[in-house]
Amino acid sequence: MRIFFIGDVVGRSGCVAVSQRLPQMIADWKIDLAIVNGENAADGFGITEPIYREFVAAGADAVTLGNHSWSKKEALAFIEHAPRLIRPINYIPGAPGCGSALVETKNGKRALVVNALGRLLMDPVNDPFGLLDREIAAHPLRETVDAIVVDFHCEATSEKLAAGYFCDGRVSLVVGTHTHVPTADHRILPRGTAYISDAGMTGDYESIIGIKKEEMLRRLTTGIPSGRFEAANGVPTLCGVAVET
Ligand code: FE2
Repeated sequence: MRIFFIGDVVGRSGCVAVSQRLPQMIADWKIDLAIVNGENAADGFGITEPIYREFVAAGADAVTLGNHSWSKKEALAFIEHAPRLIRPINYIPGAPGCGSALVETKNGKRALVVNALGRLLMDPVNDPFGLLDREIAAHPLRETVDAIVVDFHCEATSEKLAAGYFCDGRVSLVVGTHTHVPTADHRILPRGTAYISDAGMTGDYESIIGIKKEEMLRRLTTGIPSGRFEAANGVPTLCGVAVET
């Protein structure tokens, strides 16, 4: 199975990159499962229903989120009727939506997609490892599902790597998201799981992790906010990881 995961889409230019490029990439590379991290797609913070639908129309089989899942409040409501939209599994029980989804792939197979938040340098959430363990155990790879992808969304590469080894041999791909900076440590772990610490950002790289430089620099150099953070919307780069299992 060919899996393509697109790293954190930021702002309008990132969304346009997905809608313009993903359909052709799916066709050219014969992708069976396409996943997009969309937690920063709506002007840098959160996701809206039209953007979710735009990704699905471009060929995304699943859209994952992260610590900005609810930055656009409408997501709290529309996630309940957006079966391909997956929020972190380790939110407080009772949070809207689901932390995983079973999707039918483009070649008629079954895949489990899971989203989890790390805890180092992140807002408090429940333990991701126990919940991942339970989810993976409930869907044995190559028995009840043909592929499992875990989007582990957090700051620290150490925590992401721990998630990789924790899942090794039981899932197809553990892909890190959140930092918006692609890492060069992609590899196959000893028991066969593909891993990368961060798939990078899909958006305008002439920015500071997708945000316009000016306000970010102003705050960092003076300590005084003088505006809100806005997504940079220059020429986008599409960034992600592709795996064949
Ligand atoms: Fe994030």
